[in-house]
Amino acid sequence: MKVERSKIIVTGGCGYIGSHTTVALLENGFDVVIFDDLSNSDAVILERIKKITGETAHFELVDLKDPLAAETAFQKHKDALATMHFAAYKAVGESQQKPLTYYRNNLFGLINTINYQLENNINNLIFSSSATVYGEPDILPISEESEIKRPFSVYGNTKKMAEEILQDITSANDDFSGISLRYFNPIGAHKSGLIGELPSGIPNNLMPFITQTAIGLRPELQVYGNDYDTRDGTALRDYIHVMDLAEAHVKALDYMLSGTQKNNWEAFNLGTGRGQSVLEIIKSFETISGMKLNYRIVDRRRGDVPKLFASSKLAEQKLNWKARRGLDEMIRSSWVWEKKYRGDVSK
Ligand code: WQD
Repeated sequence: MKVERSKIIVTGGCGYIGSHTTVALLENGFDVVIFDDLSNSDAVILERIKKITGETAHFELVDLKDPLAAETAFQKHKDALATMHFAAYKAVGESQQKPLTYYRNNLFGLINTINYQLENNINNLIFSSSATVYGEPDILPISEESEIKRPFSVYGNTKKMAEEILQDITSANDDFSGISLRYFNPIGAHKSGLIGELPSGIPNNLMPFITQTAIGLRPELQVYGNDYDTRDGTALRDYIHVMDLAEAHVKALDYMLSGTQKNNWEAFNLGTGRGQSVLEIIKSFETISGMKLNYRIVDRRRGDVPKLFASSKLAEQKLNWKARRGLDEMIRSSWVWEKKYRGDVSK
């Protein structure tokens, strides 16, 4: 007798965090339907998810900014228990150049998602947020009680505004629950090397820039500043393995569906509690890859904060989740992914 599997909608499920979370959901017995417009991802990820899990993630090509497309998709999947909302643009630098594109895509997409969830009684939403909503913290490690400030980027502001929208919707609809997961710095890839971070164009983030430099795609890595008040002068971040992040989403879903959620909107930090510097990441990469990385110290990047790392105690207590993969596994899996992806693409 086929056990009915609970269906979860994953918007942006062909993207970096979304695809890894889809793997974790399938491996935990959920049925997944991905809504994605493929504007910043590739449908080949679907085959790779099947190769990893042996399960098929259903797929709907949906631009969530289009109310009609969103309405059709949510009606078709009204039997879903929850939505995990990853669909958003996330390039910090680009968001400064194209604010309207970012507000339209990230907020219209969320508003349509919530609207058609409400219309179809899909009353649970887990939102992909970011530590960037804290701006420059006064106290470290950052807890969920830390002040939410004006983020430095339009991208960060779309995340802050999205959280505020979600809070207002959950206040106005008692049976609608929301959880916001605030990621610190996700890096790494699934151990199979079949899925990983695939930035289009020149990477903004440190880890893909390191692996693309090492594989010869970029001439050098520029290190943005070594005059910060840190142990080696370069900025500190809380790097977390993307699979630890993915597993946190499943734990948050279990918490939400178990009905133990106290109030119907909560936020959780997802980090390791450790801050690592840019130079420490570079040194670890050189040790793991056995390669010398070509990098140069340049001026600070505008908008960068010196130090960011999390307290994830709340997630440990309430979600029964704790990051368990170390920096070596994060870096090794990033390098395996880069080599495999470039090897496959070159065939
Ligand atoms: C990390 C460190 C840089 C690139 C942003 C967003 C956050 C999330 C992750 C989406 C910093 C340094 C980087 C390079 C460098 N985005 N660096 N040379 O800025 O902490 O966070 O990306 O989900 O919301 O705010 O990440 O990887 O860009 O930078 O020296 O070529 O590496 O200065 O200290 P960031 P990052």
